Amino acid sequence: MAESEGNKNAKDFGIGIPQETPGFHVKGSAAYDWGMKHRLSQIFHPRTGRVVMLAFDHGYIMGPTSGLERVDLSIVPLIPYADVLMCTRGILRTVVPPQCVKPVALRTSAGATVLTELSKERIGVDVEDAIRLNAAAQAVMAYIGAPFEHETLGVLTTTIDAGMKYGLPTLAVTAVGKDMVRDARYLGMSCRVCAELGAQFVKTYYCEPDFEQVTAACPVPVVIAGGKKISEPDALELAYKAIDQGAAGVDMGRNIFGADCPVAMIQAVRAVVHEGEKPAKALELYETLKNQLA
Ligand code: 5RP
Repeated sequence: MAESEGNKNAKDFGIGIPQETPGFHVKGSAAYDWGMKHRLSQIFHPRTGRVVMLAFDHGYIMGPTSGLERVDLSIVPLIPYADVLMCTRGILRTVVPPQCVKPVALRTSAGATVLTELSKERIGVDVEDAIRLNAAAQAVMAYIGAPFEHETLGVLTTTIDAGMKYGLPTLAVTAVGKDMVRDARYLGMSCRVCAELGAQFVKTYYCEPDFEQVTAACPVPVVIAGGKKISEPDALELAYKAIDQGAAGVDMGRNIFGADCPVAMIQAVRAVVHEGEKPAKALELYETLKNQLA
């Protein structure tokens, strides 16, 4: 039986040897049925295998946080530049125009706010409503090492089971418990646990050193959150390093909609993710687009 202590440290990550994905471009998804693969292909671009997700679901735990006071004004103009929208059903139905044909990763876990214990979440949306909304994926928190780890992993597995009935992928969002350190060992464990439980893709944070171990040991695609607002050059550098070390894309919020020029920023992030543009070139693009829009 596996123990929590006394194990040898993991070290053989096979860095540089890509996991085989026979006949399908999304890591770990070759064995799924047509519907699941079709939805995953809406998320991960068949040409690059990568994705730029625009995350604006923060309000479900924070309320009208900076940059999201008016989603109709701040986010809707960014929609044409995103591959996937990540939001709640409340914002989707009230603010996002249904004519927009972008796939949606629907936030379906709920139950806490920043004023309480964040890990105390439950299922917040029936899978039938996710399908009614034509979601391309359901997104739920997995709080590894937090007080309600057990419950959030229950939410994750129940969501995956419901998604499997309909060919609807599940994105596991590895939320970090208050006392946990965002290092490769912890984030690598979180991502791997989520993949082992059946999540089709995982969202986590970039970390240094050894982020490539996190992505290598996760048999499904890893996308990174941007995290707290940092400068535009730093955010582009972060995206570049994550992609360079095996991330399949970004699911970025504050560092896009909180940028000085969000429309320019999302296009600069796209250049990094889909074209492998170096941070300095992507910053040049950002400045050029920003000046054109001024
Ligand atoms: C918390 C989330 C957000 O979608 C996530 O944090 C991404 O946004 P950011 O880039 O701002 O960190 O899962 O609600």
